[in-house]
Amino acid sequence: MNKNESSETLVSYPLVKLHLAIAVFYLLVVVLAGMSFALQFLNMYPFPGVELLSPGRVRMAHTQGVAYGWLANAFFGLIHYVIPKLTGYRVYSEKFGYVLFGVYNALVLATEALILAGHAQAIEWAETPQILDPFIALGVIGLVFNFLYPVWKARGQSYYVTVWYVTAALVWTPLVYVMGNFLPQYWLPGAGGAAITSMYIHDLVGLFVTPVGVGLSYYLLPILLRKPIYSHALSLTGFWGLAFFYPMNSVHHYLFSPIPMWAQYASIVASVGIHVVVYTVIFNFFATVQGDWRCLVNSIPVRWIAAGALCYLLTCIQCAIQVTMTAQEIIHFTDWVPGHAHLVLYGTFSFWVFAWVYYLWPRLWKTKLYSESLAEWHFWLAFVGVFVMWLDLLGAGVMQGYMWKQLVPFVDVLQATKPFWWVRMLSGIPILVSTFLFAINVYMTWKHRHEAVADESFLTAPLAGGPEQKPA
Ligand code: HEM
Repeated sequence: MNKNESSETLVSYPLVKLHLAIAVFYLLVVVLAGMSFALQFLNMYPFPGVELLSPGRVRMAHTQGVAYGWLANAFFGLIHYVIPKLTGYRVYSEKFGYVLFGVYNALVLATEALILAGHAQAIEWAETPQILDPFIALGVIGLVFNFLYPVWKARGQSYYVTVWYVTAALVWTPLVYVMGNFLPQYWLPGAGGAAITSMYIHDLVGLFVTPVGVGLSYYLLPILLRKPIYSHALSLTGFWGLAFFYPMNSVHHYLFSPIPMWAQYASIVASVGIHVVVYTVIFNFFATVQGDWRCLVNSIPVRWIAAGALCYLLTCIQCAIQVTMTAQEIIHFTDWVPGHAHLVLYGTFSFWVFAWVYYLWPRLWKTKLYSESLAEWHFWLAFVGVFVMWLDLLGAGVMQGYMWKQLVPFVDVLQATKPFWWVRMLSGIPILVSTFLFAINVYMTWKHRHEAVADESFLTAPLAGGPEQKPA
């Protein structure tokens, strides 16, 4: 620990605020795009004939917005908060942090604009326009350098598990980005490139979103509950399990493809290993909450973490089913897959980000959350919405798969799927409304930041009572 500075002066708070604020803005864009595209499936597209908002482009704006506008921005803001606190050192340069914030968000904006203008890169999940790829790679390297500097400075200390997770994610992310955006485009077209693309899709979630999301929750949960995590050994077992198994999973996205069968079988075996990782995390989280179950009722951030962990568990159980060849024969290319994607990226990782925003945002502005009841509505609408959407898309996927297997004409399959697409669109309404309530709460909390708070003790008090403490 750097003895000259208190942990409060280590953090670049304006950067935390900027990243979180822009993340919330992108979440609004994401849900509007998702809802528009869902309406397309019902022949009710809101922008018919508008080329710039044509459905295929809006779908890509939706997914790219999820990954880079919403989740990555929120993660970068929260890394700005946790890494200096855990290492005792500032990021390399706050000024550089501002430059990176500007460059990164200019690139996200340019990505969305160029995709809508029809310049997407023709690689699944790497639709970021080709012209931007080198700049994004350089920007990510800059971010990594800024964040890893304090980790390097603190190398004599024993790291809390959050530092392990975040550090690993930061080392992997530039490699993942370069692999997914450059190799299939310039060196490995065709089936070889598809194998690489599967790695990119998988590793973007598994080696960036997952370690950062899990690492951040390992930080927040002990603070909220004012007690150490149940088991440090288990947390590190999960970390090393992820580092070992996750990179070997990716071909499971392309089962029954021309990729050699040994690689497909190996990816299935490695996917089983991933279960160890997920169960350690879920067990550790709930074992930490054990004895404080009332926090699930009276603490919104704890509830978000628990709900995210529940989604993580269900995602994992679902993964165990969908990774088998038997299930793949049915569900591949069906609506089952977006069902899975929403439960992971919204139900799990976005829920964990919500936990952070409800904990940190009022503290950043030294005020109270504007409205507890808006926060309650946000929770329940989002929770119910994502569960209905998930179950609906799983059902649609199984039905479509069996119909295709029986060689039912494609148009009949579309007709049969229509009620499921209605439910998907209707389940999007609570998600959409909840996102607006969340954004209003965030905005109003900021707006009322100058109002005096009668009792400031809540700013440092964790939800279970007592002073804030480090999660070690
Ligand atoms: C109003 C709420 C939402 C609606 C109606 C909605 C709808 C959709 C639709 C229609 C698709 C395309 C599915 C397809 O091509 O068959 C999609 C894809 C996707 N959405 Fe959403 N979405 C919503 C919110 C979200 C949120 C909040 C997230 C994450 C934070 C998210 C993450 C994704 C992902 C990752 C995919 C890609 C799935 C894949 O490629 O398999 N969505 N969404």
